[in-house]
Amino acid sequence: MDNRLIIRGGRPLYGDVKISGMKNSALPVIFGTIATGDVCTIKNLPDISDISLALETIEMVGASVRFIDTSTAIIDTRKVMMKSPPLEYVSKMRASTYMLGAMLGRFGRAEVGYPGGCDLGARPINLHLKGFETLGARITYSTSGMITCEAPIGLKGNFVYLDIASVGATINVMLAAVLAEGTTVIENAAREPHIVDMACFLNACGAKISGAGTSMIRIRGVESLHGCTYELAPDMIEAGTYMVAAAATRGRVCVKNIIPKHMESVSTKLREIGIPVEVQDDSITVTGLEGFRGTEIRTNPYPGFPTDMHPQFSALLALSRGVSRVFEGIYPERFRYVPELNKMGANIEVIDGSALINGVETLHGAEVKASDLRAGACLVIAALAADGVTTISSIEYIDRGYEDLVEKLKFLGADIKRV
Ligand code: EPZ
Repeated sequence: MDNRLIIRGGRPLYGDVKISGMKNSALPVIFGTIATGDVCTIKNLPDISDISLALETIEMVGASVRFIDTSTAIIDTRKVMMKSPPLEYVSKMRASTYMLGAMLGRFGRAEVGYPGGCDLGARPINLHLKGFETLGARITYSTSGMITCEAPIGLKGNFVYLDIASVGATINVMLAAVLAEGTTVIENAAREPHIVDMACFLNACGAKISGAGTSMIRIRGVESLHGCTYELAPDMIEAGTYMVAAAATRGRVCVKNIIPKHMESVSTKLREIGIPVEVQDDSITVTGLEGFRGTEIRTNPYPGFPTDMHPQFSALLALSRGVSRVFEGIYPERFRYVPELNKMGANIEVIDGSALINGVETLHGAEVKASDLRAGACLVIAALAADGVTTISSIEYIDRGYEDLVEKLKFLGADIKRV
């Protein structure tokens, strides 16, 4: 049965919302437990379908997972064998490529099917594989789409230059390098908060990583890793989504349990269009108001404006008093939310890799469809702000990244239900 959300918009959101653990940290940490070959207790796991899928995937290769409360899992990877998870697991989620780095580091061999995930256009892993080769692995491809990485004499630390500050490649090379012989330096590394989270987790397991969060990460290889207890950082994209929803519905929402520094680009852009943003120690309060301006957004790797906030911010700019331009620097395919937003009365044109947004007075309810996780979040925001009733289908995409979305929005006063 096609899961759908029915939202009656036009109600300002008011109140507090607690942000869950970061999906894009939880995924590499879950696969990273394989490299420890021990027992890890991971706290602040978000209850979302990507996390369930990642835990099932590592269970397929011999890990055991036991939840001791809704957001804490004990993961035992002592019995994990070197084998690839079934293709249907890997084809659903790109993060399963982290299995390569973890297995290669621990066993000197890894095999994974070509990754899938949200369709944001071509999502190659050439930089991941080039990094592994620089550490001494040999890569082979089978006709059935399997990728095999082998380092029969073990991995050797080396200088790895990333042509693109890729989040995935930075994490995967880090995962392989922690158990390599000698020191690895990753140059032009991604600087996202989830890279820092992953490095902190690995260091808690005995790794020797320095520089995470900067564009140069140094990893001194160690003989082996051990288990640890680790609490994930809060999800900056979930936080940004609720900040923008508060602005779009002209409400007042305090987004709690966050690291405000992670939100700087989103806070800055909200202020730029005239939306008041109050920053406290571990929370941010956004107060929506009428008549905010348009602006220009350019998505870039962190600390630039996150590509994962582009669709959500466009839903807000669709209601601005002015013209805006959003340049997408990471995924050219990220504009698939545009026709759906236009069905709701937005006036957006996609012109050579950017969205030209002419603000309109109001949006109206419609039948729309989520094309990927963040496009789904964009439609939820538009529906909350629109006059009338919106039905959003294919919301399994939204369930990949937002824990208790309906409950959290209801608590803030939204008229929303899942059917
Ligand atoms: C991570 O994807 C996130 N996913 C994405 O979030 C996020 O949009 C992206 O980083 C950018 O911030 C997870 O962390 C699980 P990249 P990832 O490698 O690692 C190109 C969401 O909504 N590239 O930084 O795949 C690539 O095509 C998801 O939560 C290569 O060319 O992103 C893209 O254009 C969507 N070769 C750019 O780099 C490579 O080997 C950035 O990709 C790797 C990447």
